[in-house]
Amino acid sequence: MFLRLPVTSLLFFIFFSTNTIGLVTAAMGSTSFRFTNETDRQALLVIKDLIPGDPLRVFSSWNHSLHFCDWQGVICGRRHQRVRVLNLSSLGLVGSLSPHVGNLTFLRIIDLGDNSFNGKIPQEIGRLFRLQYFVVWNNSFQGEFPTNLTHCPDIRVINVIKNNLRGKLPIEVGLLSSLSSLQLAANHFTGPIPSSFGNLSTLRHLSLAFNNLEGSIPLELGQLLKLEFLQLSQCGLSGFVPTLLYNISSINIFSIAENLLKGSLPPDLGFSLPNLQGLYVGGNQFYGPIPASLANASGLVQIDISTNYFTGPIPINLGTLPDLRVFNAFSFLIGTNGGDELRNFLNSLSNSTKLESLNLGNDHFKGPLPHSIANLSDSLTELVLVQNHITGSIPLGIGNLENLSLLGLSENMLTGSIPDSIGRLTQLRQLYIYTNNISAEIPSSIGNITQLSILALQENMLEGRIPVSLSNCTNLQALDLGDNRLTDMIPAQIFGLSSLSQMLVLSNNYLIGVLPLEVGNLQNLELLDLSENKLSGEIPASLGSCQVLEYLFMEGNFFQSTIPTSFKQLKGIQVLDLSRNNLSGHIPRFLGESTSIQNLNLSYNMFDGEVPNEGVFRNISAFSVVGNKKLCGGIKALQLPACPTKAFKQRKTLFSHRVIIATTTSVIVLLLLCLSMIIYRIRRSSQQASSASPLQSQYPKLSYAELLQATNGFSSANLIGEGRYGSVYKGLLNSNEQIVAVKVLNLQQHGANTSFMAECEALRTIRHRNLVKIITSCSGIDFKGDDFKALVFEFMPNGKYGMGSKISAEGDMYSYGVLLLEMFTGKRPTNMFINNNSLHSYVKMSLPDRVMEIVDPHILLEEEEEQPNRSMQPSSSTTNISKVEACLVSILQIGVSCSAESPSERMDARGVLMELHKIRDVTLGVMAEGRQNRGRNDF
Ligand SMILES: *[C@@H]1O[C@H](CO)[C@@H](O)[C@H](O)[C@H]1NC(C)=O
Ligand SMILES: *[C@@H]1O[C@H](CO)[C@@H](O)[C@H](O)[C@H]1NC(C)=O
Ligand SMILES: *[C@@H]1O[C@H](CO)[C@@H](O)[C@H](O)[C@H]1NC(C)=O
Ligand SMILES: *[C@@H]1O[C@H](CO)[C@@H](O)[C@H](O)[C@H]1NC(C)=O
Ligand SMILES: *[C@@H]1O[C@H](CO)[C@@H](O)[C@H](O)[C@H]1NC(C)=O
Ligand SMILES: *[C@@H]1O[C@H](CO)[C@@H](O)[C@H](O)[C@H]1NC(C)=O
Repeated sequence: MFLRLPVTSLLFFIFFSTNTIGLVTAAMGSTSFRFTNETDRQALLVIKDLIPGDPLRVFSSWNHSLHFCDWQGVICGRRHQRVRVLNLSSLGLVGSLSPHVGNLTFLRIIDLGDNSFNGKIPQEIGRLFRLQYFVVWNNSFQGEFPTNLTHCPDIRVINVIKNNLRGKLPIEVGLLSSLSSLQLAANHFTGPIPSSFGNLSTLRHLSLAFNNLEGSIPLELGQLLKLEFLQLSQCGLSGFVPTLLYNISSINIFSIAENLLKGSLPPDLGFSLPNLQGLYVGGNQFYGPIPASLANASGLVQIDISTNYFTGPIPINLGTLPDLRVFNAFSFLIGTNGGDELRNFLNSLSNSTKLESLNLGNDHFKGPLPHSIANLSDSLTELVLVQNHITGSIPLGIGNLENLSLLGLSENMLTGSIPDSIGRLTQLRQLYIYTNNISAEIPSSIGNITQLSILALQENMLEGRIPVSLSNCTNLQALDLGDNRLTDMIPAQIFGLSSLSQMLVLSNNYLIGVLPLEVGNLQNLELLDLSENKLSGEIPASLGSCQVLEYLFMEGNFFQSTIPTSFKQLKGIQVLDLSRNNLSGHIPRFLGESTSIQNLNLSYNMFDGEVPNEGVFRNISAFSVVGNKKLCGGIKALQLPACPTKAFKQRKTLFSHRVIIATTTSVIVLLLLCLSMIIYRIRRSSQQASSASPLQSQYPKLSYAELLQATNGFSSANLIGEGRYGSVYKGLLNSNEQIVAVKVLNLQQHGANTSFMAECEALRTIRHRNLVKIITSCSGIDFKGDDFKALVFEFMPNGKYGMGSKISAEGDMYSYGVLLLEMFTGKRPTNMFINNNSLHSYVKMSLPDRVMEIVDPHILLEEEEEQPNRSMQPSSSTTNISKVEACLVSILQIGVSCSAESPSERMDARGVLMELHKIRDVTLGVMAEGRQNRGRNDF
């Protein structure tokens, strides 16, 4: 693939480089009486007005204090002071061309090339009967070819290369008897080449390349006896090339590459085209022999005969061409070549001292790589011998070709080692030696090639350690060492190559040890393949820093432990294969939440627990979890047993909503009560217990009608979440313009009503300043007379506790977890925490030792203001303080556990209950003790 690129770029070079036009020619003039030089001034000003983009401020000189003949880009005839040349090329102009240009009737030259003009080329251009040069290449002009140009009898040059013109090539152009250059390349022209073009008897330059033409090259083009430059590459032409075309002796560039043309090249081509400098016939369906006469076209600089059906042999007299720089014979023939042919040809090129690029890829060459390769030109920058049957070893002399930037030896039968001398090729950017039989170690001199950006050595028999010196190749973008016999650990230094962006492939080797943490430095890498090695240990969490990874293959190793949660950061991951390792733990839910994953293979590990059923886990052909014995759940097609925990939960969610909420609530209330009592007692406060002044009075009372209005009639546009127990709508309360979230309970769902009661109960009883998110509840009947129950929360666009997104058992556990954390820390989940931590990790990190630092001081001080005497009695309360601490730690631990990011890691309802009961028992103990103490103290 890369092999054809140089040719295409060369073609581009040719057709653009020959564009430059000697502008100042033209003279003389007849007088026009209809238009005056004031007309010209007006026309120029209108032209200027339609070109708003003028980054170089060319038009600042187009002002009233200067005569328009002195404006930049304007040249007038001396006699009449009328505009003769309008040259605004390469000025970064953006705008369109005004029809007023047609008023500049003395205009001979228009050059607007290399700007950003758009819109149509105005047909008024046809009024410029003196026009000779019309040059607008590299703009964005649209519409059809301005056929009115054919009204300009003197037109010599038409250059509209690289615009967005479409439609058919106009037949009328054939009438332009003075035309010497017709350049229409790189547009969207369609249809055939009009045979009328054969009437352009003065044409020297014809460029129609890079269009969507059809049909064959008209025979009439053979009449263009002045033709020097013929550029018809890549424009959809088919059929035979008219023989007469090969007889136009003036031609120096003959390019018909990349079409569907066929036929054979005339044997005397080198004589009939004696001025030939560039011959490009690559990418067609030519057959027959390569004319040996080519060696007679002694001015030949570039030859592209690639990708055709020529039959050998390759002419070995080409080496006599003194100026030959490029020879591209990639895939140029069918059939096989004799063993000596490659050697003879390469030998013959030793006199081609200007040779820069030699491509003999995919040519069935046999035999050993000749040592004469070392005698090729010093100027050689590209040497491509890929896809042949070349044997033997890479000659040491390869190190002589010090200017090589591309060396392709891949897909041959080379043996031996990579010579140390390769390190002398310090200009090398691309080195392909893959798919050979190369053995021995990779020479450490490879590290001398610091420009290297692609190194492909896969599918050989390379041994030993990956050379540490590779880490000097700091421009490396793609490194493939897969399918070799490399051993030992991967040197951590390799992962310092942050230049690696396309790929790093080390698969199918015998690499051992852990994957170094430094892998996280590969922050630009898109593909990492470590599969089929003997790597072990944990997958380093740092891998999550490789944030642009799209493909990650780690299968067939001995990786252990869990999938790091940092994998969540792999936002672009498309294919992830971790199969055949020793990974365990739950399958993280975020894998199912990923929007990028298209293919996931977790098979043959030791994962347990629930298979998610979202995202990639929805499509049975997009993922695999086979060979993990302890999995459950997931989509039906998996035919896994239902998760026991989940089944339990489902049954119990009713239970959980009914019981958990009520119970946790009561336990929490109890705890709050207890804690404040304890603390109260510790502070020697008197009998005032925390008096729960009912908050109901502070809740606004909302009716069904009000909620109906707030949510636009519970419209689907307002729906922000749906779950088993109900739906959550966003609403706007009319009364105080507050945005709220309204959770409408689905009362048909068994358990919903209980859930509602429980939640309402919770709202009513728990009073805490951190609980501001709950606004009120609404219970009544709807307009149809059915029961209606809803909870109204403060709307939090991003804080969103499974309340807005998913209403699930896990989601509810999460809500309660966060609720607990909020209540006991006095912090909101939306608060900023150091290091971007969440409330969850903020608390988690502080437990258990620093619990007193994170607990909301208000909890501890709630009653203090009413208690002037703040002195404590440490001696008598130390035990209780530590018990309180332990109690707080336990509660917060429940909060942490319930609010774990991955739902599967969250504590379930039963676990919470058990924990709460334990705490309650401890607390009650403390209270009892407190009561005793109080008794003693008070009385
Ligand atoms: C007109 O353009 C000329 C040339 O750029 C400049 O020197 C002159 O200051 C300009 N005059 C005004 C009035 O802008
Ligand atoms: C110049 O050309 C425009 C558009 O083609 C036309 O409308 C206008 O009348 C012309 N101006 C003069 C002075 O002839
Ligand atoms: C064509 O114009 C674009 C910008 O409009 C520029 O980037 C590009 O280099 C130009 N092409 C050539 C061949 O000059
Ligand atoms: C070419 O020009 C000749 C002479 O003017 C004319 O007869 C013929 O029709 C033209 N051919 C085409 C294809 O336009
Ligand atoms: C190279 O050129 C020299 C001098 O013209 C000639 O003697 C020699 O045979 C040529 N070598 C090849 C391989 O053509
Ligand atoms: C590679 O570089 C080292 C250090 O500059 C030098 O000693 C060695 O000769 C070089 N090897 C090759 C093959 O150029």
